Amino acid sequence: MKDKLPIGPNSPDWWQLIRWIQDPLTYQKECRQKYGDVFTFRMKVFPPFVVIGSPLGVKEIFSQDADNFDVGRSNYIVKSLVGENSLFLYDGERHQRERKLLMPAFHGNALHKSAESICEIAISTAEQWQEGQQIIARKVTQEITLEVILNVVFGISQGERYQKIKPLLAQMLDVSDSPLRSSFLFLDFLQQDWGRWSPWGNIKYCKEEIYKLLQEEIEQRRSFSEAIANDALSLMMSAKDEAGNSMTDAELKDELMTLLFAGHETTATMLAWAFYEILKHPSVLEKLRKELDSSVNFEALKIIKLPYLNAVCQEVLRKYPVIPIIFPRITKIPMKIMGYDFPAETMLAPSMYLVHHREDLYPEPEKFKPERFLERQYSAYEYFPFGGSNRRCLGAALAELEMRLVLAAIISKYELSLASQQIVKPQRRGFTISPAGGIPLIFQRKRPNMAQQLQNVH
Ligand code: HEM
Repeated sequence: MKDKLPIGPNSPDWWQLIRWIQDPLTYQKECRQKYGDVFTFRMKVFPPFVVIGSPLGVKEIFSQDADNFDVGRSNYIVKSLVGENSLFLYDGERHQRERKLLMPAFHGNALHKSAESICEIAISTAEQWQEGQQIIARKVTQEITLEVILNVVFGISQGERYQKIKPLLAQMLDVSDSPLRSSFLFLDFLQQDWGRWSPWGNIKYCKEEIYKLLQEEIEQRRSFSEAIANDALSLMMSAKDEAGNSMTDAELKDELMTLLFAGHETTATMLAWAFYEILKHPSVLEKLRKELDSSVNFEALKIIKLPYLNAVCQEVLRKYPVIPIIFPRITKIPMKIMGYDFPAETMLAPSMYLVHHREDLYPEPEKFKPERFLERQYSAYEYFPFGGSNRRCLGAALAELEMRLVLAAIISKYELSLASQQIVKPQRRGFTISPAGGIPLIFQRKRPNMAQQLQNVH
């Protein structure tokens, strides 16, 4: 029997899947032009899902009682990367408990303590660049964000084990760095281990090696009877459920993998886009420098409040969605959204891309205009780069802090330029959307007058 979901493309389900893997943003845009703000994709491998591209629909979804949806179930596709004991996959009480447990590692004091190391990590990465050297923005931002997340998840990250995790994680995620190479994440018949040099074999190898290192770390921590710290691993290891049971090693490893994976890819991509837009627009660079140069010393907690820097980061997050749609919400009861009566078990997928690119909310949406965030306040349904309701990104505060501090540290201290004036397009990279080619930059030189200020990073 045919479902009664809103209309959408009637091309074959395999073709809809190919287009979704190949270019999910253009595909959504075309569908909105044809079918309006609410339409249904029917793709091979997924149940049908209804895309919502209007702030009203997003409001109606985010304002529902969280218990009216399952979300973890719709994320089953990431299981192959992060394991079955991941926050991404939980629903209900277990999900709520896990979030509550991890929250302190990503907020308040723990976050303020990270500010100093974020600046240091950014600067020590940049200090290795030579004048005239070409660097790939997406690669260097990934080095920075990986180092930061290792700090937040494991506390002060020193030592050999972390040095081993870094390239393994990068290698694992680089396997799906193009639409074609992302296909096997969606098609399980391609998930074949034909040895280390096959894409799936390589992912499996990296994952197993990372899990071995995580196991060693867990065992070493157990052997210390240190005071509880606020890093994510310490919080998880000290937690007990109502029955007094601690998390098992398998649960700990999957959650660590989730945090490492979610916590660095996304922020690295956003930082790379930020460098691209800032360097492409000399007037933005000039305004940003003026604001940064005039802030006395380089105080991290003041830097993050600078209005223009803030507007630049917000505009980057608006223009470039990190994922094509937020986590789909599966209705557990019948409900009315945007005038449609949806039965239970409908997958509703708010699209930040469609909402953030609406002409009526963001005039000339394809243009990079940080000023729009100085001139107007947007609601949580008009602007939601970190999703919303009970699934809102756990690391949003860390990502926002990190973006501002890394940009401030590098833009105020170093001269960079784009290696090419060509337009860089968003391209699928696994489950995320990333700049095609990674954005090559040229490191010009240090800005001499800033050397003194940056020695005083507080
Ligand atoms: C600029 C960087 C980032 C962006 C744009 C981003 C965006 C998102 C989005 C859109 C979601 C889905 C929310 C929803 O469906 O309502 C999400 C979930 C999540 N993010 Fe992020 N994220 C970023 C950085 C981070 C960082 C640094 C961490 C740190 C660990 C993190 C951890 C997570 C986790 C654990 C979830 C799942 C939350 C849940 O299911 O309850 N993210 N993120």
